[in-house]
Amino acid sequence: MQIEERLIHYFKWFHRHPELAYEEYETTAKIREILEGEGVEILPYELETGLVAVVRGEKAGAVQALRCDIDALPIQEETELDYASEYDGKMHACGHDFHIVAGIGCALLLEERKRELAGTVKIIFQPAEESSLGAFKILETGVMEDVERIWGLHADPTNEAGVLGIREGYVTAAVDRFVIRVKGIGCHGAHPDDGIDPVPVAAAIVQALQTVVSRNINAFHPALISVTRLEAGNTWNVISETAVMEGTVRTMDREDRILFEKRMGEIVENTARAYGAEAKMEWIAGPPATYNDGEMVKRSIGVAEKCGFLVVPEESAMGGDDFSFYEEKKPGCYIKVGTGKGQLIHQPGFMVDKKVILSTAEYLAELLFCQT
Ligand code: NI
Repeated sequence: MQIEERLIHYFKWFHRHPELAYEEYETTAKIREILEGEGVEILPYELETGLVAVVRGEKAGAVQALRCDIDALPIQEETELDYASEYDGKMHACGHDFHIVAGIGCALLLEERKRELAGTVKIIFQPAEESSLGAFKILETGVMEDVERIWGLHADPTNEAGVLGIREGYVTAAVDRFVIRVKGIGCHGAHPDDGIDPVPVAAAIVQALQTVVSRNINAFHPALISVTRLEAGNTWNVISETAVMEGTVRTMDREDRILFEKRMGEIVENTARAYGAEAKMEWIAGPPATYNDGEMVKRSIGVAEKCGFLVVPEESAMGGDDFSFYEEKKPGCYIKVGTGKGQLIHQPGFMVDKKVILSTAEYLAELLFCQT
């Protein structure tokens, strides 16, 4: 079978067998089986799921890495594909099945050119990207220690096949989560004067938090806050003792991220105090913003043009990707690959145009092959 047919065959298998974050056992076994069958070396890391393949060039050169995430989402697929998910309530709705085969294809193409390949290429098949923390499983192995730069890709259903989105600077947001707990004094609903009602306190906090974006952050810097859960009480005639809010903050700029956390803490505590209540914020930091290195961007655009891709400016997104944790170690570049216009990622009708599989694998192999 020609390489394209093989890759499409593998792609259909991965699409039919989606596994959620940290549960990618069959997926990992299949990647291993394919790569070992093709003679590609797998590094002996003790990973529960995920693996790292390596192609060692016979010429001297830098060590580079390519990261491909492998997990699926808890979504019921609604496509008419003959290779639709076989697992109820699970689907490769973020294109990570495509990332897997692009990575496999890249490994196979580099393996074929090993004699002329300068340097070493590590291909990271990372678990649990959707948990935002899967990158740590890989980083714990020490795989990045000798790596000079890392490349990443993501399926992009807002662009046609043959189009790559590449841009220097921040391209995905820092993803932080917060939980706010307000404590008042519960009492009878008819006698609010006997207690301290946490509900108006929570409402005041929700309103005030939006001013961090409108009054504290530079108007040219993307930033947002969403309070996504607000709970208090359990019946109609009792004033609750507590209220809980939860949500997310998204920022691009490192300083804005620090400022946001600080201002939120002040607003939460002092607003509550003004009402005679108490409130505390818990800040749960997720991945930082993804930043595309200038030199790597130049190289990726040069190779894209050579490979016949149309390059468009990459859209920034307030979504995140734990690819940024690798970038805390070494410079990186995260490229959006047009997979045919259609339903967006994380939607039940999301699909990848199969004709991008080989061209993406070839592009990645060329990118990692060419050192200058
Ligand atoms: Ni994704």
